[in-house]
Amino acid sequence: MMSRKDKQDLSNFQVKKIALFNVNGAFYAIDDSCTHRGGPLSKGAIEKNTVTCPWHGASFDLASGQALCAPAHAPVGTYNVRVAAGYIEIEI
Ligand code: FES
Repeated sequence: MMSRKDKQDLSNFQVKKIALFNVNGAFYAIDDSCTHRGGPLSKGAIEKNTVTCPWHGASFDLASGQALCAPAHAPVGTYNVRVAAGYIEIEI
């Protein structure tokens, strides 16, 4: 059971959306927000190790997070992923 103090502490959490991709058995986790204008990268097309933003076409390397073409220039955040005991774990 949560105490009143615990509930107050939870109010300090921020929500972060992370996109998880499975590319031929290799898992990649990146921020689900394009650095151009926040497009949902989880809805983007995957080709090899890149994802293309569905809004304006910027693409990002899934391993490094680097922006590969305009209109995005800044990288997206990447997260370590591992599979353990049948679960996918993302290090945040
Ligand atoms: S929001 Fe992704 S390319 Fe514009």
